[in-house]
Amino acid sequence: MIKKKNILKIAIDSPAAAGAGTLSKAISKHYNLFYLDTGKIYRFIAYLKINFPKKFNNKFVKSKIKLLKIKDLANKDLLSDEIGTEASIISKIKSIRKLVHSFQINCAYNPPKKYKGSCLDGRDITYNIIPDADFKFYITANVRTRALRRYKELKILKKNITYKEVLKSIKKRDKSDLCRKISPLKKTKDSLLINTTNLNKRACFLKIKKIIDRKINN
Ligand code: C5P
Repeated sequence: MIKKKNILKIAIDSPAAAGAGTLSKAISKHYNLFYLDTGKIYRFIAYLKINFPKKFNNKFVKSKIKLLKIKDLANKDLLSDEIGTEASIISKIKSIRKLVHSFQINCAYNPPKKYKGSCLDGRDITYNIIPDADFKFYITANVRTRALRRYKELKILKKNITYKEVLKSIKKRDKSDLCRKISPLKKTKDSLLINTTNLNKRACFLKIKKIIDRKINN
């Protein structure tokens, strides 16, 4: 696999609904970086499991990942809470993680020509996918704030779910993502902590932009 040199690589890890997706998109747009929401790949596999339970095995997933296009990840069906929960279950399977590994590495190190680099967010990006990233961030917020944000997003999508259910589901997902043996969510020593609890989207963006600009303009 080609690893392009002289590209800007940003790695972001975060628990569910911390605002990392929105921030990563804004950062990617500003610096002209290719953005990949890696959680969507696990959600895509969860979607396969739910919709094709009889066919679901490694070979089936491998064939689907081979054909996977970025635009497939924009499917709104992937955003449901049910898919998120299933994604956190299948993402514990070593063989599944192995199947999506090269897809992610390829996006990170070999983004399409029109981009100046890449920005990936997920759970294991800072230490597993882009260990040599130019910038590493751990984006978090308190669990109630995250649950409220996710609840509002799901309401916009007209999903039938209560705030209490979302909170419970996010707590469960945190536990699963933080405590699993394989590629758990963690803040690495070399990642900068950004707590978005009391910051709006613009303030978070400016905070990160300041950090990046300070380094790249020097
Ligand atoms: O980020 P999102 O909430 O869409 O991710 C769904 C699930 O996919 C997470 O709860 C996590 O279990 C899994 N995931 C992962 N590694 C990543 C990204 C997501 O295990 N890099």
